[in-house]
Amino acid sequence: MKKLEFKTTIIEYPSVDELDQQDKTLVEKAKEAASVAYAPYSKFCVGAALLLENGIYVKGSNQENVAYPSGLCAERVAVFSASANYPGIVIKTIAITAKSDSFIVETPITPCGSCRQVLAEYEHIQGSPIKIILSGAKGKVLVVSKVEDILPLSFKEDKLKK
Ligand code: THU
Repeated sequence: MKKLEFKTTIIEYPSVDELDQQDKTLVEKAKEAASVAYAPYSKFCVGAALLLENGIYVKGSNQENVAYPSGLCAERVAVFSASANYPGIVIKTIAITAKSDSFIVETPITPCGSCRQVLAEYEHIQGSPIKIILSGAKGKVLVVSKVEDILPLSFKEDKLKK
């Protein structure tokens, strides 16, 4: 018998001002993305911004639909857009944030299970970590150094790895 344990390290910063300039810029891009989210049903506007290895930023926001399950989270809009437009380019970092005109989003939002699974696959195939920066409309910021930390034992196909 063997006991397997998983350790997750999350760095908490009191505010976005404590991040380095590159990460601050990415959070800013995620906020821009959140401000154009299409979220008339939940009123919960999520923004995601990716920094690719070639220096390009890719933004995504949640896109809802009257047929509710047809909508998509901001993270997957951003990641699928990056893969469609810049196939094979390594994703270095993703910043995720949320805001609402109806209530205050104070705590950093964390990606849902489906988005974690999607991010985990890109991290797996590119063979290098995707850093995740989580923030709310204001206040503290959480940074996780790789997707695997927030989705241990994700479903993967080993043969896809580079
Ligand atoms: N949402 C995201 O965009 N990302 C997440 O990680 C969680 C939830 C969106 C989906 C829906 O449009 C709204 O937030 C409320 O759940």
